[in-house]
Amino acid sequence: QARLRGVVALDGPSGTGKSTVSRRLAAELGAAYLDTGAMYRAVTLAVLRAGVDPADAVEVARVARAARLTMGTDPLAPGVRLDELGVEQEVRGPEVTGAVSAVSAVPEVRELLVAAQRELISAALQEPGGVVVEGRDIGTVVVPDAGLKVYLTASADARALRRTKQDSSEGREGDLRATHADVQRRDALDSGRKVAPLRRADDALELDTTELDVAGVLEQLHKLVESHALLG
Ligand code: DC
Repeated sequence: QARLRGVVALDGPSGTGKSTVSRRLAAELGAAYLDTGAMYRAVTLAVLRAGVDPADAVEVARVARAARLTMGTDPLAPGVRLDELGVEQEVRGPEVTGAVSAVSAVPEVRELLVAAQRELISAALQEPGGVVVEGRDIGTVVVPDAGLKVYLTASADARALRRTKQDSSEGREGDLRATHADVQRRDALDSGRKVAPLRRADDALELDTTELDVAGVLEQLHKLVESHALLG
């Protein structure tokens, strides 16, 4: 069974199917998996639990410095822990989703998390199998020399529909109109922020997933991994 060598960076806005395909790709290639969005979400949860206003950058940075975050990198059971307790469910909830763009726009939060991400990636690269990393700034900031960079896109309608389905399948309330508005609001915030805005790296390949299902996206990704000589 061929395994991944090095880093695959998968960036793009929410609702492109990024998490699902990143996890599966990692599992199928015997690679580690890092969900950087979960890290911004966990810090956001810490901010909300501390009763801090997500718009208060100084207090947000203080909470981020104090938070003890543990990330699992097994694609079959990634897991995110905040102060030793699993918070997988909570970090996907609407409160965190509503505040995460503000928290992830704070430069000190990004500095702390990018450093932590690079450490996790280095540790994963000590093991056989490489690592699939997903986020918004992986190809541009976190791992600019990744062996393969893919930028996933999809129409806003397709992304809102996927988010809504995902929410209801995971037991959260799914409302298409509200989700559509939220997807657009977060896109604008994530693309418009000063530090490490969401954008395609110059050398990233764009993959439009509007008309593709998960299997179709995975097929494309496997082809790209192969054509970039990342199998060992
Ligand atoms: O991928 P996600 O929806 O779980 O990400 C949550 C938020 O975190 C998203 O709105 C933007 C932010 N984020 C970021 O700024 N940089 C990353 N590398 C990953 C996520």
